[in-house]
This record gives sequence, C-alpha cells and structure tokens, in this order.
Amino acid sequence: MNASEELWQRAQTVIAGGVNSPARSFHPMGGDAPVFVKAARGGRFEDVDGRSFIEFLAAFGPNVVGHGHPLVLERVGRQLAEGTLFGAPCPGEVEFAERLCACIPELGQVRLVSSGTEAVMSAIRLARAATGRDLIVKFDGNYHGHADPVLVHTGSGAATAGGGHDSEGVPSGVRKDVRSLPFNDLPALEELFAAEGGRIAAVLIEPISGNMGVVGPVSGYLRGVSEIAHRHGALVIDDEVIVGFRLRYGIIGPELGLRPDLVCLGKAIGGGLALGAYGGSRSLMSLVAPLGPMFQAGTLAGNPLSVAAGIATLDILAAPGVYPWLDAMGRRLAEGVTRAAQGAGVVTSLTRFGSMFTLFFRGVAPRNYAEAQDHDRESFRRFFWAMLEEGVYLAPSPYEAWFVTLGHTEEDVSQGIRAAERAFARMRQLA
Ligand SMILES: Cc1ncc(COP(=O)(O)O)c(C=O)c1O
Repeated sequence: MNASEELWQRAQTVIAGGVNSPARSFHPMGGDAPVFVKAARGGRFEDVDGRSFIEFLAAFGPNVVGHGHPLVLERVGRQLAEGTLFGAPCPGEVEFAERLCACIPELGQVRLVSSGTEAVMSAIRLARAATGRDLIVKFDGNYHGHADPVLVHTGSGAATAGGGHDSEGVPSGVRKDVRSLPFNDLPALEELFAAEGGRIAAVLIEPISGNMGVVGPVSGYLRGVSEIAHRHGALVIDDEVIVGFRLRYGIIGPELGLRPDLVCLGKAIGGGLALGAYGGSRSLMSLVAPLGPMFQAGTLAGNPLSVAAGIATLDILAAPGVYPWLDAMGRRLAEGVTRAAQGAGVVTSLTRFGSMFTLFFRGVAPRNYAEAQDHDRESFRRFFWAMLEEGVYLAPSPYEAWFVTLGHTEEDVSQGIRAAERAFARMRQLA
C-alpha cells in the first residue's frame, strides 16, 4: 500500500467520504484513493508518494499567482509573526478593502468574509433586505456555494456527484423562494418577471459560468438580464467568485454588459487563504449591521493573515503584462489540447476566457446546463486517468475548468500539450 492509499484508508474512517469537499473525490471518475498532495510550487504538485504533477486545477480557481509566490510568502510570513487573528480591526483589512473599491467602481463599500459561499449568502440577504422581497432568480448549472437558497439546480461538485443537482436538507420553504432558469435564455427570464416580477429581490448570476464547464454569455444576454431585473425593481448580484481577478484586474461582468448592484468575490482575491468579499453602493451597504438592520458577521472575517495574502496577490496581479501573459498561455494550452484531440479523432469542443477553459467531450460547445450535461462521460473519464498517468492533474469532473497560473512556465504548458497528445493517442488505441 503506498502513502496515498494509506492516507485514504485513514481519511475514510474519520472524514465524511474521505474528503472535505466532494469536488476532490475521485469516485465520480470511477476511482478510489485520490492524490494526497504533500507540497506545491509554481504550477506543480508533489504527492505523498513522491510523484510530481503539473496541475491545471489551481485549487478550483484561487491560485492565480502560482504556489509559493515569494511576495505572498513574505507578506504572510511577516503577518504570521505579528499575529493571525485579533477579533478587532487591523490595518490590512482596510488596505485590502481600499484596493477592491479603487479598482471596481460598483463597490462603494465592501464586507470581507471567509469564503465565496458566505459572500453570496450575505449578498442575497442584503438584496432581500433592500427590496423587501423574497424571491431569488438563479440559473441552472451556476454554482454559488453551499448555502441553502443556492442549492437548487446547481453546478460544479453537486452536478458531478449527480443526484438531481439539488441537495436534500434544503427546506421546501427555502426552495419555494428560488427560481432557476436556463442560462442564456432571455425570453424565459422575461416570462418569469412578467409573472412574478413584483416579488423578485434579485437575479444572481455568474457572468461567465465556470461551474457547468466554462460557458459564456451569448451577445446581449447580460445587458438584457440587467435591463429586465432593473425594470422590475430587482437587484443584480454579480457572482465573480471564480472570474474576478482571474480574467482582468477587477471584475468582468460590466465589460460584458452586466450592470451589477452587488458584487461577490472570493477565490483569487485571497491568494490561497480564506477570503471572500461582497459589496455594492454605499447606500446598499449602509443596510448592513451595525449601521443597518441586515445582520451579517464572522469571527474569521477579514482576518490579518488572509488579507496579507490578498494584498500580496493583488500587488502581483496589478503588474503590467500579467493578464496578457495569462491569456497567451491559456490560448496556447487550449489550442494545443484541441489539436491533440483532433489528431486522435476524439470529438471535443472548447470554451476559453483568458487563462480558464473547459474541454467538452461533445462536438459543439454548450450554451447552457442542459447542453453541458449532454457529453461523452466515459471519454472524459478515460482522458482524466490518462492525463494523471502522464503526470497532469486535472479536476476530476467534466464541469470544471482548466486554469493556467503565473506559476506555470512555458515548458509546463508545452509538457501539458505533449501529455494530452499521448493521452488521446492512448484513448484511441483502447477504443
Ligand atoms: C461562482 C462561485 N460562487 C461561489 C462559490 C463558493 O465559493 P466557496 O467554495 O469559497 O465557498 C464558488 C465555488 O466554487 C463559485 O465558483
């Protein structure tokens, strides 16, 4: 038994399902023991058995700057020595909040929280407080964390695990205040608002979905969503937990036509530590306690260690040339992998935005969750295992993205492409 297998035995004894988040499990891939990572540097993992992997997982998004970036290590190390949690305000949280507000005009003020789940959950509560309405509209296959109101027709890990994509344990009373519609379908949204517009507090949306695989908005869609919501007095909540600071320095929704009232951030802004944020205009944020009647809190919120990592991460991402480089590497990897699939006669399509993309095992890139679900599951599974054998770690799910980070080298990308060529060739031999 190797070290991963031994850890797996122990993990299954004391951790539910052996993993602390279902998306990490290899079960949906027909596997058993996952890879247990001992250390990570740049764009690579080393596992407990001494194997090295190029990884395009990026911790499901947060890792944009690469593992062990010296600036992050230095700033976090300094903060470690000065204390990790005070329960009283600290300078770093002010500096970090100033940086977010400075580069995102939609943010008059923010609240720092510890995860994307908390950011979205709090934004929903704020939208309900601001409008005095209960209904939330979301889109099938979008994932917004694991708070009750958003576990309806959800994507990401819940989709991979199957089971109807809704969670047991969400009260029917919560469900009845949520509507989930197909993404990229304005007539469906128009129809819903015509019927129930006066009761809708907010439309919650990933402007580019990263949780049914990467699926972009069709032209005019996000502008239409905003226009319909605002016409009926509902707010627009822009969930940029995956795409914020991944595709540009700031958020991407407004560039694509979205007009958000509230913005949710997470993942990338924490540089690998637990950090999320939500915010909006000063008048909306004045409803949050202690100024206003909407309660939201957190013992770990805006903790000094996380904001130290966040500030260092934003420093790195603000440097000129960062996003063009990420885009160029994302393009190279995506084109190389697509060529590899074509060379082996494997039917795929690919949707890419900058440094994130999904290779779909279907001929035409999907526009919504129903289409994304219609893919060749068995081929994805075989490709996942073949890549792992070639030393490339991908998310164990067809509904996640590949991410390139600043920690990857051009050689890592080239090796990733060569690994894909061998993996597809092996799949063809086995077919
Ligand atoms: C778009 C989006 N929103 C919210 C979340 C929840 O974030 P967290 O897992 O940090 O709670 C995720 C996580 O994948 C996400 O992709």
